[in-house]
Parts: sequence; structure tokens; C-alpha cells
Amino acid sequence: MNEVKKIVVVGGGQMGCGIAQVAAQSNFAVLLIDSQEEALARAESNISKSLNKLHEKGKIKEEASTILERISYDKSLKSAVAFAPQMMIEAVSENEALKTKIFFELDSLLPKDCIFCSNTSSISITRLAASTKRPENFMGMHFMNPVPLMPLVEIIEGLGTSKEVSKLVRATAEKMGKTCVLSKDRAGFIINRVLMPMINEAFWALGEELGTAEDIDAGMKLGTNQPMGPLTLADFIGLDTTLSILGVLQESYGEKFRPAPLLRQYVEAGWLGRKSGRGVYEYNS
Ligand code: CAA
Repeated sequence: MNEVKKIVVVGGGQMGCGIAQVAAQSNFAVLLIDSQEEALARAESNISKSLNKLHEKGKIKEEASTILERISYDKSLKSAVAFAPQMMIEAVSENEALKTKIFFELDSLLPKDCIFCSNTSSISITRLAASTKRPENFMGMHFMNPVPLMPLVEIIEGLGTSKEVSKLVRATAEKMGKTCVLSKDRAGFIINRVLMPMINEAFWALGEELGTAEDIDAGMKLGTNQPMGPLTLADFIGLDTTLSILGVLQESYGEKFRPAPLLRQYVEAGWLGRKSGRGVYEYNS
């Protein structure tokens, strides 16, 4: 296979929506699958809002309605069969058992040459690929949040990924207007291996009352020229996701990635960041 035209995205959360959106913006036909009806309705509305905003700002030329026509929605994984995609991108939550179940089922439904990608931010691509009979056609494709605005895709080759597939996945991400970096298949890959220690340290610092949350964030934002401080960024990523990624890193690299107790406590309290209305900061909407 030498060209991808149709992409199935599994998972209608923030990441899955963003991936479906940028794929449709780049002229791919997209089928977005989520088992929850409400998630699909929310996905459709969020993608439409995002596209309208980008169009109003002149960041995309096509009308939102034209782009939206390229996306169809379905509840069942079986709908992927008739859609006949060349690529499938899984973007469900960071739950290895759930991801493996989806890959296993789709492996029996889709032709052998359909490329399977996972948007996992930290789970081993080699291990996920082992739940299928197509390790050569399996790759990590890690988009950054918010997908429509962030220019990077981190691509990860599993032990069995073929060089041809790696090239095709890179070319597909580039068609979506993204720049790729290639990481080996090690816990956290490149981005989270380097990003998470900073976020974790900010929680240790906050727990020790080294400074207020506002000062820690302003210090890093203004002092090191980052778009948002590490605590704001953690709220944005989700404190549960942050904790789970740190857990994966700690398992591989040990003590230096031990999550700060304050981060764990926030998650235990249900303070998960923006999505729950409260994290390090409070959010009204
Ligand atoms: N679609 C369309 N528009 C969007 C949008 C989306 N999905 N998300 C935000 N916007 C809009 C906002 O509504 C806002 O619009 P208005 O100007 O009309 O208010 C506009 O984009 C710009 O937003 P802001 O003015 O708030 O902020 P900004 O211009 O500085 O850019 C940002 C926003 C790109 C998110 C920037 O703050 C940023 O780069 N933050 C860091 C994000 C980051 O590091 N992401 C990676 C996280 S790590 C990760 O994803 C990997 C992992 O595994 C954890």
C-alpha cells in the first residue's frame, strides 16, 4: 500500500476528536467510532465549534461544513469493515486492557495491510502490537493536545514495525500539516520522558510551599518562555493522565519519576484539572 485515503479513528474524546478533525481538514475521509452515543454527539459538536473558530480566524480556508462532510460517526467497531480504511488510529483512554481489546477485535475485522496506530502517550507500542497479527503494520502516533493547534506528532516504531510503514505514517502525519519526531519504544517516549519530570517537580515544589501555584507557573512561563506554566499545563493535560504517565515512567526508570504526593492527593480528591472543573486551579466552565 502506498497511500492513505481513509482513516478510522477509535475514541471520541478530546484527542480522538482532534485527530478526526485534522485528518478531515487535510482531505482524508474519516470514520470516528465511539461506543457511547453521547460521546459521538459531543464529538460532532466540538469538532464543528473548533472548525468554525479556525475558519473565522482565517486559519483554514474551507468552510467548516465542507470539512464536516468528510467525517462519519458510528458506535460499532464493525462499521470499520464497510468503510475499508487504509489506517486506523486508536485514541481511547490510557487503559492498556481496553486498547488491547480494541486492537484484537479490529485485527480480525480489517485487512492485514491496514495500518494500526495508537495515540498512546506512554504504553509500549511493541506490547500493544503483540495483541494483533500485524506487528509490521503497527506504529505509535502520538498527537499533542490540543491537536488542531499543536504542530507535533511523535511517531514510535515498535520492535516489528516495518520501515515502509514508518515512512507512510510519517507522510500521513505530514499531510495533516504536522512535523514528526521519531522515538524508540521506551516508556514515555521522548515528549513525556522530558516533560513529566518538570510537571512532577512543580507539584513537589507546590507541596513544599516553595512558592504559590501562581508564582511557580508565572516563574516558568515568563522565566523560561513557555506558553503556560507546568501546573496550568498539568490541569490542561488532566491530573489523572499525568499521574498515570508518571506511573509508567516510574515503573521503567525508578525513583526519579516517583509522583509527588500532592499530585496523587488531587487525583484521589477527583480534582482532575480543567475537565472536572477543578485541579490546581478552579474553572468555571
Ligand atoms: N480548536 C480551535 N481553537 C482552539 C482550540 C481548538 N481545539 N483550542 C483552543 N482554541 C482557541 C482558543 O479558544 C483561543 O481562541 P480565542 O483567541 O478566540 O480566545 C485560541 O485558540 C488561542 O488560545 P489562547 O489565547 O488561550 O492561548 P494561546 O494562543 O497561547 O494558545 C495553546 C493556546 C496552543 C493551547 C498554548 O497555550 C499552548 O501551546 N499551550 C501548551 C500546550 C501543550 O504544551 N500541549 C502539549 C501537552 S503534552 C501532550 O499533549 C502530550 C501528552 O501525552 C500529555
